[in-house]
Amino acid sequence: MKLSCVTGALLFMLSSAQSSASDMDTMKQEAADTAQAFVKQLGEAMQKEMKAGGPVAAVKVCSELAPQITGQISRDKGWKVTRVGTRVRNPMLGLPDPWEQKVLAQFQERVGKGETFEKMAFAEIVDEPNGKYFRFMKAIGVQPQCLECHGDPAGMKEEVKALLQERYPHDQAKGYKAGDLRGAVTIKRPL
Ligand code: HEC
Repeated sequence: MKLSCVTGALLFMLSSAQSSASDMDTMKQEAADTAQAFVKQLGEAMQKEMKAGGPVAAVKVCSELAPQITGQISRDKGWKVTRVGTRVRNPMLGLPDPWEQKVLAQFQERVGKGETFEKMAFAEIVDEPNGKYFRFMKAIGVQPQCLECHGDPAGMKEEVKALLQERYPHDQAKGYKAGDLRGAVTIKRPL
């Protein structure tokens, strides 16, 4: 009797541990899909706008469309979805919090070890003073087409430089090279 109680308790503990592990997997997958869809939608819009109107016109994809899409996803899902940078152009939106800074540093190390951006992500359950959250970050790499606005200013078009200077007086998000870590899509989901 006692033994079966113990076994029962053990089994229960085991199965709840298993179910929380699979909950974690499900949340990770949902977050990864969401981040992926956002990056794809943004990338396509960027390419289209670059072709149609060049980099000056495309500035609005990164400055208006990106926060619009993340805002929409946040409202639809009830999660906080944003973008953060290793260095930021818009300190109002793009600054990583301490947890995000820690994960970006970890991504930087992984880049240094030769890992590609494609599947580079990190998830964790985090206890914060106001509750428990599932937090997820998906790394964003710098592609050649990003350099028009995030590369070496010496290689950027004058009108793009002027526009960026006017709108973002505290801009740190330049001087990147293709293959650098640019930042991450970051998702915070209340549990
Ligand atoms: C046509 C110019 C332009 C191009 C090309 C561009 N960006 Fe941006 N990017 C911007 C602007 C402007 C902002 C500031 C957005 C804002 O106001 O929130 C920005 C902000 C960001 C941010 C948010 C963090 C921050 O610095 O504020 C990330 C991440 C980012 N860009 C990644 C990329 C990536 C990756 C690419 C290439 C796939 C890219 N950008 C291409 C203009 C551009």
